Amino acid sequence: MEESKEKMRVKEGATRLSKYRYLEIQIVELMGGWVESIPEAEVKVSFGRQMYQDIVHADVIGKRLPELKARQERYHATAPSDGFVAMLEKIWHQKSTVHRLTALYRVLKPGLVSALTDHLSFIALPEDEPTERILRSIIEAERDDIEWGGKIITKLIHNDTALLRESEAWEKELQSLWDACGGLNADSNKTATYSFKKKFDYSKQPARDARWIIADDSTAYSEKNWSFDTAEGKLHLLHDLLNSEYITVERTGRILAEFPDLPWAMRIDMARQSWDEARHAEIIQRRLEELGGYVGMYPVNFWGWEVDVNRPDPLERLALSNMTFERESSKHVRDWIAKAKKQGDNASVQLLEYILADEVTHVQYGLHWVDELTKNDPDRRKKVLAYPKNLLAEEHPVGVRFDETINKRSD
Ligand SMILES: [Fe+2]
Ligand SMILES: [Fe+2]
Repeated sequence: MEESKEKMRVKEGATRLSKYRYLEIQIVELMGGWVESIPEAEVKVSFGRQMYQDIVHADVIGKRLPELKARQERYHATAPSDGFVAMLEKIWHQKSTVHRLTALYRVLKPGLVSALTDHLSFIALPEDEPTERILRSIIEAERDDIEWGGKIITKLIHNDTALLRESEAWEKELQSLWDACGGLNADSNKTATYSFKKKFDYSKQPARDARWIIADDSTAYSEKNWSFDTAEGKLHLLHDLLNSEYITVERTGRILAEFPDLPWAMRIDMARQSWDEARHAEIIQRRLEELGGYVGMYPVNFWGWEVDVNRPDPLERLALSNMTFERESSKHVRDWIAKAKKQGDNASVQLLEYILADEVTHVQYGLHWVDELTKNDPDRRKKVLAYPKNLLAEEHPVGVRFDETINKRSD
């Protein structure tokens, strides 16, 4: 059979890959930045999962690029055009969940899949088989996401015809912006010069759906004082932990969006943590419901949120939440496991052991990145490590203590 299309050459292949990588990273940042202001719990959980999946896509593409002679870091994520960046900026500012999901699952991800499919249609084989394998696995994962996205959009629109029309108009508008700038295959001789930052206002608390009851007074909040010894205590503790898991999906997602210049390996860790916490939320809610509980049965408090995400230094956030709160939480979970074992509550033991394994890893992320990024900056290290200590000396919600061993390790 005669081939009509010329096969793709090394340079063009690399140029295209760096654009796919740019879009995957942008999608991670959109989800990470949005997750705190999206009330729908199932969207939060899926974003946690997909942030990690998409950063891994960006990572495998990033590893292929130097093999295709694109060795300099600046070639590893290329914005396709100014128009493309302006379209993403417009998407970033959307406030409604339906509009956000419409952008992701009806325009950006389908656009990515069609660019990857086009790439495969004239890939040189077996010369470029490594790229082929990567693109096929990404296409498969993105198709699953698009299918999930379509279902959740339909569910959220429900029978609201006005919202349906708005969503359709928004999709059309975006599609024409995509087409006008040439999408991912814009003229590769022109490089984009436009860029924008994903900025955040001061945040009191993340968005929650109508089931949740918020206790504003952190000093009166004493859920952590319950014991895993009793059936009632278990419900209180699991419910409080469920809220913390969502907070952690949200705060790690936000680091990805707010600090695009952090080391790549650290960003992968943050995305991984977001996925872990999303799974924790799922399994804790499952156990809570098995034990007769439900979301919203007790009030929750966001003290730990406000003192984290409003800090300008991401390392202060890790020192507080990964190194202090998650370390504290690991101690509690160890105690719960011991109590559940005594009671013969094997179902709780099984899931808490997995959660503990992840939490210990999250504490390590904090220790590692604070160490690594302050090794030549003792002043910053001092300031970062002092933050949780000073904060917890002033304000002391019930059940949260400062752990002195933190400073011992890093001094
Ligand atoms: Fe967790
Ligand atoms: Fe964690």
